[in-house]
Amino acid sequence: NYRIPGTDKILEKGAEVFIPVFALQRDEKYYKNPNKFDPDRFNEENSATQTQTNRPYYSFGDGPRNCIGVRLGKLQVKVGLIMMMQQFRYELANEQERTRQMEFEPRSFLLSPRGGIKLRIFKR
Ligand code: HEM
Repeated sequence: NYRIPGTDKILEKGAEVFIPVFALQRDEKYYKNPNKFDPDRFNEENSATQTQTNRPYYSFGDGPRNCIGVRLGKLQVKVGLIMMMQQFRYELANEQERTRQMEFEPRSFLLSPRGGIKLRIFKR
């Protein structure tokens, strides 16, 4: 059995624990305008006042069994984005795309927008 530090809650041995990552990462208590696409919320300036340890961020899990490939994963994503942006410019395809509320695709294994996001792509 394991007592959660600072509480009188006991997790019984063998109990399954589900962590609501999506809800935690979209909680206004931790992130201002949580549904806004705002990569700057993670830049150095913003991270200095709100460090990664005092707000939930579990994209790669946490603890001793967290993602072993986190650095490679981040590097791959950055290289991919840089190559895509070097060669092409992207715009949302139409007004509907600009204004619609994000809905999630219920049949997708990974979290993704319903019907995708339609873009117009221009060669630079
Ligand atoms: C953006 C890319 C990636 C994301 C979002 C991601 C996410 C995750 C997550 C959420 C976990 C579970 C951690 C936990 O239970 O706390 C995990 C585990 C793991 N990931 Fe990744 N991952 C990525 C890329 C990679 C890459 C590139 C590799 C290998 C080269 C990798 C290898 C692993 C392995 C081996 C585990 C299991 C670690 C263990 O159980 O001890 N991942 N990953």
